[in-house]
Amino acid sequence: MKYSIPFRIWHWLNALVVLGLLATVFLRKTFLSWRANSEILLNELAKIDIEITSAQAKVLAKAIRAGMWEWHILLGYALVALLAWRIYLMFKDSSNKESFLSLSLHKKMVHLLYYFIYATLIFMSISGFIIYFYQGLGLLKTTAHDIKELHELAFHIILYFIPLHLLGLVIAEFRDEKGVISSMVHGKT
Ligand code: HEM
Ligand code: HEM
Repeated sequence: MKYSIPFRIWHWLNALVVLGLLATVFLRKTFLSWRANSEILLNELAKIDIEITSAQAKVLAKAIRAGMWEWHILLGYALVALLAWRIYLMFKDSSNKESFLSLSLHKKMVHLLYYFIYATLIFMSISGFIIYFYQGLGLLKTTAHDIKELHELAFHIILYFIPLHLLGLVIAEFRDEKGVISSMVHGKT
């Protein structure tokens, strides 16, 4: 058995949660963007002779977005729980536990990429919760803003990892690792 049942459940829950986090970011930047929606509100209300200021439109647009964005935070808690579970599995689970040095150069690179993604996910969790609780932590708004910039920068690593991960798996599937994708479903090599 290459991957234990807990490891496989962990992988798929983690994939769902990370894709969910990306979905909330996508909505925030597109259909629920406060900039776009405050314009729509201003224009549509003007058509029915209601004048509001851009500041008021901004408040309304942000209120429309708020319920959706709560999912970013909820999924954020789920991500932290999953990372804690992954660390537990690292010590208690025998899945994928070949020694790093015994791996081929190619596999070493693949594993390094995974370590890099784990580090990025840990960074996303720490920075995300610092921004979320910045007042309670006694941080200045400008500091929280700087951390948010880093959070948003590191988001691109996650964004590019996913297509790279899938492409890598499809290539491996065609070359010499037939069944690598389904092994994360049934666990066998
Ligand atoms: C949705 C399609 C996905 C498929 C079919 C898939 C499939 C797989 C497979 C087959 C492996 C084992 C590869 C190997 O032995 O090197 C793997 C590992 C991994 N996947 Fe995915 N994955 C998907 C999405 C994701 C997403 C969205 C994430 C989010 C970060 C993710 C994170 C990881 C990580 C971190 C590992 C390394 C696990 C470890 O060995 O510690 N995967 N994936
Ligand atoms: C894979 C993990 C994550 C990704 C890819 C991600 C991505 C992002 C992105 C791109 C933004 C900027 C959105 C914008 O201003 O347009 C953002 C903001 C934010 N994220 Fe995350 N995030 C992740 C995890 C987390 C976690 C674990 C938390 C913890 C609660 C969190 C909390 C926040 C907060 C509080 C903001 C600022 C929202 C605001 O300014 O109103 N994120 N995130």
